[in-house]
Amino acid sequence: MSPTFSDKARGASRILGTGRCVPEEVITNEDLEKIIDTTDEWITTRTGMKRRHKVAEGEATSDLAAVALRRAGEDAGIELTDLDAIIVGTASPDMPFPSTACFVQQHLNLPGIPVFDISAACSGFIYGSTLANSLIAAGQFEMVAVIGAETLTRITNYQDRSTCVLFGDAAGAAIFGPSDGERGVIAAYIGADGNLSHLLNMPGGGSREPATHETVDARRHFIHMEGSEVFKSAVRAMESSAKRAIEIAGIRLEEVDLLIPHQANVRIIKALTSRINIPPEKVYINVQEYGNTSAASIPIAFDEARELGIVSEGSVIVMVAFGGGFTWGSLVVRL
Ligand SMILES: CC(C)(COP(=O)(O)OP(=O)(O)OC[C@H]1O[C@@H](n2cnc3c(N)ncnc32)[C@H](O)[C@@H]1OP(=O)(O)O)[C@@H](O)C(=O)NCCC(=O)NCCS
Repeated sequence: MSPTFSDKARGASRILGTGRCVPEEVITNEDLEKIIDTTDEWITTRTGMKRRHKVAEGEATSDLAAVALRRAGEDAGIELTDLDAIIVGTASPDMPFPSTACFVQQHLNLPGIPVFDISAACSGFIYGSTLANSLIAAGQFEMVAVIGAETLTRITNYQDRSTCVLFGDAAGAAIFGPSDGERGVIAAYIGADGNLSHLLNMPGGGSREPATHETVDARRHFIHMEGSEVFKSAVRAMESSAKRAIEIAGIRLEEVDLLIPHQANVRIIKALTSRINIPPEKVYINVQEYGNTSAASIPIAFDEARELGIVSEGSVIVMVAFGGGFTWGSLVVRL
């Protein structure tokens, strides 16, 4: 049974502001050529990636997340003390517990409000946004921050050439507040299939395989991925999610001004684009600059697209994600 989007949830909230934080240090394809058996040509043709960013020594996911949220608050023109909740989507938390959201709250000195993480891997921002909209629709909260934040370079195995070229660090944030009727979230759709959890995960460090010398030696505390299986599922799930969300929104494809897909691989994005049949100029791609930043990829792309003036008030934007779990989802907003 697929979840539905109620009339109460439709248009309940709108995005008041966005922000992003990208660490300064850059890992280029040429840098990777020096540490593993790869080439710029292979990485570029198979993934579209040229660069990815990396946090500084001692920096953690919450540090990036707090900066992104502060910038989103400035963009929205609100005081962060007006927030009623903070939701962080991440697969690379500061610690297994407490939540990364607790550290974000601490950095920004916002004690009191509820804060929590969502574990939906690369779909974390879409899951968090869907929840934020529902909480606002229910009258529980008025203003909710959703952050997608990752330091994937911390859990990337730089001895595995099939995964280490893919991932980067960043954070993106959006602030959801009451809608003014015209603008807002006009559809949200999320789903998952835990049967496919073995294809993309970090096996070590949880209750199934607690950390031991053996798990560390076996490099179990890094991302494990079966790339080609993930690739096929990603295209299928993002296609059906985007189509479903557009259908729920009750809009025609021609009314979509911009598609922001999760930036996992340019070939996944191109396959998705042709299946949905949306013109390439309406698809935002920045994977060449950041690699796959998991939950951060959609909010940083969204923030960039707003900054560049690619979207503005009234634009209809479809965001679509896919991630470990597997999880997937799509959000349609009228800015
Ligand atoms: C990872 C991915 C880029 C690999 O591309 P691919 O075309 O599927 O490549 P394969 O895994 O079939 O590997 C093909 C060959 O390239 C090699 N290869 C893998 N990584 C390489 C690298 N960095 N440099 C050079 N060669 C590499 C493989 O060893 C293999 O060699 P072989 O044929 O001699 O065995 C691709 O599967 C992918 O993007 N998957 C989805 C990943 C993803 O998006 N994950 C996150 C989802 S949210």
